[in-house]
Amino acid sequence: MTSLQGKIALVTGAASGIGRATAIALAQRGARVVLSDLDERKAQETIAMMVGEPPLFIRCDVSSEADVTQMFDQIRERFGQLDIACNIAGVGGRKGGPMFAPIAEAETADFDFILAVNVRGPWLCMREEMKMMTAQKSGAIVNLSSVLGKAGMAGSAPYAASKHAIIGLTKSVALEGADCGVRVNAVCPGAIATPLVDALVGEEGEARKGLTAAHPIGRLGTAEEVAQAIVWLCSDESTFVTGSELVIDGAYLAQ
Ligand SMILES: NC(=O)c1ccc[n+]([C@@H]2O[C@H](COP(=O)([O-])OP(=O)(O)OC[C@H]3O[C@@H](n4cnc5c(N)ncnc54)[C@H](O)[C@@H]3O)[C@@H](O)[C@H]2O)c1
Repeated sequence: MTSLQGKIALVTGAASGIGRATAIALAQRGARVVLSDLDERKAQETIAMMVGEPPLFIRCDVSSEADVTQMFDQIRERFGQLDIACNIAGVGGRKGGPMFAPIAEAETADFDFILAVNVRGPWLCMREEMKMMTAQKSGAIVNLSSVLGKAGMAGSAPYAASKHAIIGLTKSVALEGADCGVRVNAVCPGAIATPLVDALVGEEGEARKGLTAAHPIGRLGTAEEVAQAIVWLCSDESTFVTGSELVIDGAYLAQ
């Protein structure tokens, strides 16, 4: 595996799950990591698990244009460059709101919240990332889609719509970056054992067993397994890979 020494990497959603594992993995490869999240306390837990140069934490709600603008102002001021951006922050639903609801019973507020975080967030971040990366003529961006970016699921229309949108954003921005040294890819994980999935189906019980059984490999994925793929997409080992959707799903979509 090649080193990421000297690279500045931004990870949104770095306080938990896939974002946490990605921040840790990027630091292990030598990158200087900027962690961003809503949850500073849990982000500090991530920092305590990291090796290498001291990471920087920036609190940012990715759905807020003002927050995203100030985050990139800080990155420009502090480092003057951005080599890697992992747009991972995302939600399965509103806190206290239903995780699964047939559309006929769904609330507009749930739809708006999911789309704001999962689509507007990466769009706002990518706008700033592309300003920096096209100017420096290099960079790698990875967005978090899902198997629900490639297939539907009853009761999950807003989430599936948000993850399909990520594929469209990724492909379009990849075309914009292709001739100026910027690669843009998406990963499409199946169910990964993180707090987001715990909130959806519980930590044990029938719903979790059903979700596990839907993956032919016979288990859920780990955040580290997704992080390794993200790090590869950010590295010089994948220099011809852009505009792609990398499925990491224990054969969920192969059925
Ligand atoms: N876990 C899975 O099975 C799975 C599968 C496919 C895709 N994904 C996607 O992977 C990404 C990470 O999911 P995870 O499972 O690690 O979830 P998680 O809940 O463990 O972590 C998500 C992180 O995002 C942060 N966050 C939420 N809203 C935010 C906002 N508005 N601004 C900034 N940060 C915010 C949370 O504080 C949290 O730290 C999400 O985009 C999710 O949709 C997850």
